[in-house]
Amino acid sequence: MSHIIAPSVLSADFGNLQRDIELINNSDADWFHIDIMDGAFVPNISFGFPVLKAIQKHAKKTLDVHLMIEDPDRYVTLFKENGADILTVHIEACTHLHRSIQNIKNAGMKAGVALNPHTSVHLLEDIIADIDLVCVMSVNPGFGGQKFIENTYTKVESLKKLITAKKSKALIEIDGGVDLNNYKKLLAAGADVLVAGNTVFGSADPSKTITQLKQI
Ligand code: DX5
Ligand code: ZN
Repeated sequence: MSHIIAPSVLSADFGNLQRDIELINNSDADWFHIDIMDGAFVPNISFGFPVLKAIQKHAKKTLDVHLMIEDPDRYVTLFKENGADILTVHIEACTHLHRSIQNIKNAGMKAGVALNPHTSVHLLEDIIADIDLVCVMSVNPGFGGQKFIENTYTKVESLKKLITAKKSKALIEIDGGVDLNNYKKLLAAGADVLVAGNTVFGSADPSKTITQLKQI
């Protein structure tokens, strides 16, 4: 399987959201990455259900929803109803992670777990076989356009070993600071999914940038 590119809608122009959604529909991108922030788990508020619904209305590709919110169990069903195909929760926000994963799967979505930069991949040892995706944060969550944290490469290598050892099918997603200079090294380390916000929407030709990120 070739790697997956998931442009982050957080960096889109919200005044021209439909235009930017169509741009991704018509590009080589595979998924839409959608960041939900509650102003409590992270020091920023992004958007909620009305915007997600608007995205769903026009998007023709998988909706990969990344929840940066406290107590995400409260909203699992609503995210399904508003179009999420993959729902990712933060390990740091879930006291009963196993239950959260089951809730997401029972609601009919793929289940992802995100790790903050300081969180060790070894915490996933007893849950990795149950999850569909691990989102490795390569910046501190909350904002687009931040600098990539270099420790991510070794973290991805450790995670890949864990996934192989436990015979898990989980995909490794990298979120934050992915650009045209580091994406190949991330793929070599074991990444399957690359999220890119600023690199795509901050470029002169976003569609061309997506095509470049797809090249191996
Ligand atoms: C950060 C978000 C990211 C963000 C990535 O908290 O989870 O998805 O949009 O943006 P870039 O690619 O600009 O770092
Ligand atoms: Zn994200």
